[in-house]
Amino acid sequence: MEPCPEDADEPLPPEAQHVLFRPADFFKRIDPDSLFPKPAPLELDLGCGEGAFLVEMATRHPDRNFLAVERLLGRVHRVCKLVHRRGLTNVRILRIENSYLVEHMLPHGSVSAASILFPDPWPKRYHHPRRLIQPPFLRALHQALATGGELRIKTDDQPYFLWMEKAFAQVPELKRVDWPDAGQFPVTNFERRFLDQGLPIYRAKLLKR
Ligand SMILES: C[S@@+](CC[C@H](N)C(=O)[O-])C[C@H]1O[C@@H](n2cnc3c(N)ncnc32)[C@H](O)[C@@H]1O
Repeated sequence: MEPCPEDADEPLPPEAQHVLFRPADFFKRIDPDSLFPKPAPLELDLGCGEGAFLVEMATRHPDRNFLAVERLLGRVHRVCKLVHRRGLTNVRILRIENSYLVEHMLPHGSVSAASILFPDPWPKRYHHPRRLIQPPFLRALHQALATGGELRIKTDDQPYFLWMEKAFAQVPELKRVDWPDAGQFPVTNFERRFLDQGLPIYRAKLLKR
């Protein structure tokens, strides 16, 4: 079988293996503190891509732990190598579907913040069911978040953003709040491309009530 070019695998050298999180049991909720050298508030980067945002956040915030999720193996391996090269001990990455981790593997109330940055927009109408931001997923995220925990979402895709706003309205337990200055956060790999093209970025911040 031909490998999917998007998912072309780059081997993971032994010295970067420790960044990869391989759960022993996919049917048990994880103990997030056990994944890191020090207990600390847990942040998620769901669909971390090439990891520029993740690595910069983890560098700026050594007092937080970061669990990243990415489904493409090549990207997972590249992020592992990047994290290893930067000597970051507060980052682990897991290859899984975002929704499976959030719904089935995270303890309720365990997450202080989650970032979903430029999720795949699936523009064709018949692909809309594949979109990540939907009410059941938001409800699962709400359960995973600690009280006061925040969800940050950015996209360049206005139709998807309008779809998201309808989903937010169906999950009032996540309260939409102003996010006037998104510049306090590192730029993601995809965001850099859109900014360089002068495209608008749509963003939303929601808090667990
Ligand atoms: C458009 S990219 C954005 C990557 C990164 N957040 C950024 O802004 O540069 C979306 C990423 O999410 C990953 N992804 C898409 N659907 C996913 C899913 N259901 N579970 C985990 N990762 C997913 C893709 O493989 C891709 O790397």
